[in-house]
Amino acid sequence: MLPQFLQNVLSDTLLTFDPNGTILNANAAALALLGWSEDELVGRPITTLLADDEGDLFEKTVKLDVSKGTGTVAVPLSWISARRKDGTPFLAEWTVLEVSLAQKHGFIAILRRLPETSDSELKLREALAQTEAANRAKSDFLAAMSHELRTPLNAIIGFSEMIHAQLLGPAGVPKYVEYAGDILASASHLLDIITDILEMARMEAGQTEFKPAPLDISSVIEGSMRLLHQRISHSGLVLSTKIAPKLPKIMGDERRLKQVMINLLGNAIKFTPRGGQIVVEAKTVLDGRLMLRVIDSGIGIAEKDIPRALAPFTQVDSVASRRYQGSGLGLPLAKSLVELHGGNLELSSILGKGTTVTLHFSTLNPTEI
Ligand SMILES: Nc1ncnc2c1ncn2[C@@H]1O[C@H](COP(=O)(O)OP(=O)(O)OP(=O)(O)O)[C@@H](O)[C@H]1O
Ligand SMILES: [Mg+2]
Repeated sequence: MLPQFLQNVLSDTLLTFDPNGTILNANAAALALLGWSEDELVGRPITTLLADDEGDLFEKTVKLDVSKGTGTVAVPLSWISARRKDGTPFLAEWTVLEVSLAQKHGFIAILRRLPETSDSELKLREALAQTEAANRAKSDFLAAMSHELRTPLNAIIGFSEMIHAQLLGPAGVPKYVEYAGDILASASHLLDIITDILEMARMEAGQTEFKPAPLDISSVIEGSMRLLHQRISHSGLVLSTKIAPKLPKIMGDERRLKQVMINLLGNAIKFTPRGGQIVVEAKTVLDGRLMLRVIDSGIGIAEKDIPRALAPFTQVDSVASRRYQGSGLGLPLAKSLVELHGGNLELSSILGKGTTVTLHFSTLNPTEI
């Protein structure tokens, strides 16, 4: 074993023990850390220094083979909960090596106290791992449920549509046709919500389909406006676009970005009273990035409510006073999709005046296309 004088100059805590697990000696650093005097410590089992459950584990996993005078002690560098003489526990890093010097078999334990914060860090890490696992379970559950819900819903939509259109003959009572129309509208709305939930669950589970390709953002804007054409024309709003000519391309997934635009434009339409204005703007900014904006002159959001607007499943209106339909997933979904593109989404708003959602994306050099 190491000569005592050498052990004492080492700042790491060193202890030696024999194949029975009996402590043979301890260096000065060990005594200082553990609060024992050498006389008190020598002769005690090594498990004295470990917290109870760690001690049991040590005895179970480490075989000290007394009969052969050797043992198989292979404790790789690991974290343990150690204990001082007065019983106070502390977190340490330790390793145990088998040593054979002067034909004597024994073991040397090297113990290093971890900084105080490591204890809380460890707890934090455990808590994070648990949260991640719970989140994954939630996302898996939502994805499975959404799928199950969509199948019967498609039957409801399909058949109510047939009745509403009186495809196979007259429904008899006109009220029935009206009800079929209501069923169709409600079921379609429900399907939209479920689709959003599924999308959000996929996003959280990192399973969103994402196929980026060089893309012209003006085609995304035009495409989404075409899809919302009916809503826009019924809304009593003035919608204008300010798209700079010859915009650089970005690396994007057209379907996903259309989804973003539909959500943002949908909100602008929904939350702007008749007579209001919506402007869609696209240009490059000084740092060369592409900036896309949806500006409305609608009801706006109070500054304190902006974080809530961006969080999943929340609407700024309280449930009791809720005037607008929706599941509160549009904005968070849009934000996640933009971030999937390496871009960012910012929302600024003045209550009663209007809202501006700004997106930024990196652009491609013409040589990259
Ligand atoms: N352009 C806007 N003007 C005013 N308030 C807005 C605007 N966009 C979003 N909000 C507020 O933020 C909330 C969250 O928006 P989000 O798009 O996530 O949900 P939603 O539109 O209510 O429902 P969904 O989009 O799922 O149908 C909205 O309920 C609304 O209170
Ligand atoms: Mg919305």
